[in-house]
Formats: sequence, structure tokens, C-alpha cells
Amino acid sequence: MTDPTTAPYYPMARQCPFAPPEQATAVREAGTVPRVTLWNGVRPWLFTDYDDARTVLSDPRFSADKSRPGYPLSSAVALAETAVEPTLLVLDNPRHDALRRLVLGEFTVKRAESWRPAVRTVADTCIDRMLRGDRADLVADLALPVALTIICEFLGVPFEDRDMFRGLTHTMNVVAGTTESAAAARQALQDYLEDLVAAAEHTPRDTFIGRMAARHLPDGTMTRRQLAAMALLLLTAGHDTTANMISLGVLTLLRHPAHFAALAAGPDPELLTGTVEEMLRHLTVVQRGIRRIAVEDVRVGGRLVRAGEGAVAAIDVANRDPERFPHGAEFDPTARAHGHLAFGYGPHQCMGQSLARVELQEVYAAVARRIPTLRTAVPVEEIRFKTDMAVYGVHALPVTW
Ligand code: HEM
Repeated sequence: MTDPTTAPYYPMARQCPFAPPEQATAVREAGTVPRVTLWNGVRPWLFTDYDDARTVLSDPRFSADKSRPGYPLSSAVALAETAVEPTLLVLDNPRHDALRRLVLGEFTVKRAESWRPAVRTVADTCIDRMLRGDRADLVADLALPVALTIICEFLGVPFEDRDMFRGLTHTMNVVAGTTESAAAARQALQDYLEDLVAAAEHTPRDTFIGRMAARHLPDGTMTRRQLAAMALLLLTAGHDTTANMISLGVLTLLRHPAHFAALAAGPDPELLTGTVEEMLRHLTVVQRGIRRIAVEDVRVGGRLVRAGEGAVAAIDVANRDPERFPHGAEFDPTARAHGHLAFGYGPHQCMGQSLARVELQEVYAAVARRIPTLRTAVPVEEIRFKTDMAVYGVHALPVTW
């Protein structure tokens, strides 16, 4: 048994808001796989090497079922993920793949591309509104409205209800929350979405909920409850991550004025796609590692993980592994970021990644082209970073131009 005093607390604290914690990076540099101590005393293994992280995320001997005893939960609120109807994120095979296959056709690159004009229009509208004043909050005035509008239109969820489901999403994600508060928020959102599914059954709609209700409910391949849970996952996973990547990404571009100017001088599609991939790698907003539990003994990178033990794939640190990405900690949109783990890896790899890429490409391009003089309106020390949330970002980003 490892002495608990040698198992450092995880997640470790960041020293620089734009880099993973130094202590976690040091683990990778030392080439070790330590045990870490979580908020509830559970002590999973910490994998920071790129190849090891991929193994943890793709080997079927690791389970994503958070209700298993000893699961390395990121906080008490994470336990609520199994409290209502399990979503894809917590299902193992064969149930996971069977459910994912029913909706996968909605997430092709081609489908995502069809959203490009809509993303462009929403981004332009938000920027028009911003430019009527001389100062704005890039989170409230651009990042959130773009991400929310697109996911609402995609799913067929009324945009007018955004304050309600934003609030519930916050309760489900705030690290300091309780299992009970998160479960209640999840139940409320599930009920709301079940009503929308029921409405779509009566009045056919050309939206994700409408199409899936027509295709899968009549023959029972999906239940109303399962479809609502799928919509819940897409609604919550589909706006918070993207909004955080928009605001933290723009802030990162402002810290790299030469890259920002190059984007402003565009269009340069290659530079734009490179910027987005590098931004995803560099920022890796899913900041508390992706967690799994071994259901059989499994050896990863020389470390034996026994059945019942937890594993944390620290994708933020792995995404800077110089053996995979020679430019490591640097932000370099001209380097190859291909193969990064910001969207996860293996069976649970992000289903909305093509849509997220379209959103990020369009918003970064629109900001650079239309507000080339953009700058932060406060010193970086006054910006509140989301160290208190499951997904990293900024709570607000005051900007001027
Ligand atoms: C930049 C934005 C995004 C980032 C960084 C991101 C990140 C991730 C990550 C790391 C996972 C894997 C979790 C795990 O293995 O446990 C994941 C899964 C998922 N994401 Fe995303 N995501 C983003 C945007 C989106 C969008 C826009 C949607 C929906 C339209 C979406 C839907 C999903 C779904 C449904 C899953 C679960 C897939 C499964 O378990 O099979 N994500 N995402």
C-alpha cells in the first residue's frame, strides 16, 4: 500500500492560468505514475503520459460507470450523473455503443458544416451589438450567446429558456455543490426535456429532438426518458465547453498578437483550423482529468492497476507531452496539434467535436476580422478563472477595442 502522505491531493493547484499545474507536469517529466488523493479520500493512479492516457481511455477493462464503488469521482456532484437516467458518458459497452449508434448520424462532419452559416450569423449579430458600445464582456456578450443559440437550434430547445437551463447546468457542474443539489437540478432538466420530447411526438419538428422522436420512439428503440437524457447531455456538454473555449481562446489570442494579426489578415483556412486544434490542445478545458475505474487487472505504462482501482487520465498534461507534441508547452498554431486529447479518446470521444470546431473556427475568425483592435479592459490579474468548475475558462472577460 502507498503511504497516503505520499499521495498528493488531486487536482493540484495551477500556478499560471494558462498552463496545467506545475506539480502535475513534474509527474510527467519524472516519468512516474503516482497515486493521488481525491476530495473524498479515494486514491486513483495518475496518468500524465500521452500514450498511457490513451490506454486508460480506450482499454475496455476500464469502466466509465460512476456508480461503481471506489470510482474516482471528481466531486460529490459527479455522483448525480447516475442519479436520473444514465447518459452515454457513464455507460459501458455493449449499452454505450448501442445507444451512441442511434444518434451518431446527427454528428457527422457534413452535418456540422451545415451549421457554419448559422454560427457566422449569430457571431456577427453579437459582435454588431458589442460594437454599439465601447466595452463588453466577451463571455456574456459573445461566447455564451453563440454556444447557447447553436445548441438550442440544433436540439430544438427554446432559447428563451436559457437562463433556467444555464442555472441548472451550473448547479450540476459547480465543484463545491452537493450530490443532492446536483441530482435535483438534473431531475428538473430531465423533466423539462421529457416535456419537449412529448411535444415533438405530437408535432413533428426538424430538430434533433424531433427527428430522434420520430425515428426511435414509435418502435421502442429508444424510450422517451432515454431521448430526454441524451438531449440533457448534449445541452449541457454542448454549450459550456464550447463557450469556455471561445472566451479563453480569444484571451489566449490576445496574448499572442502576431497570431491574432495573422488571423485578422485572413481568410487563411489552414491557419484557422490549425489555430483551433492548437487552442484545443493548449487549453484542454476539461481540467480535472478524465476518470475511469478498472474492472479487471490491467497494466498501463508499466503500472499494474488492479480491478476496483481508479485511474485519472490527465489530458491537460498529456496534451503537452513533448514526445507526442515537440512544441510541448508553447502555443504554436503552425505546429501539428493533430491527435490531441482535448475531446477525449476511445469509445466516449466527444460526439460534438465537429460542431465545436465549426463554432470555434467561425468565432475566432469573426473576432479577429471585425475587432482587430480588441484588447482586455482589465489587467489579467483581475480576471476570474474557473478553477472552481469542472470545465476551465473565465467567469467574465471585460474587453474593449
Ligand atoms: C470545445 C468544446 C468541447 C470540448 C472540449 C469537449 C470535450 C469532451 C470530452 C473530453 C469528452 C469525453 C469525456 C469522457 O471520456 O468521459 C466529451 C464527450 C462528449 N461530448 Fe464533448 N466537448 C466539446 C463540445 C461538445 C459539443 C458541442 C457537444 C454536442 C453538440 C458535445 C457532446 C459530447 C457528448 C455527447 C459526449 C459523450 C460521448 C460519449 O460518452 O460517448 N461536446 N466531450
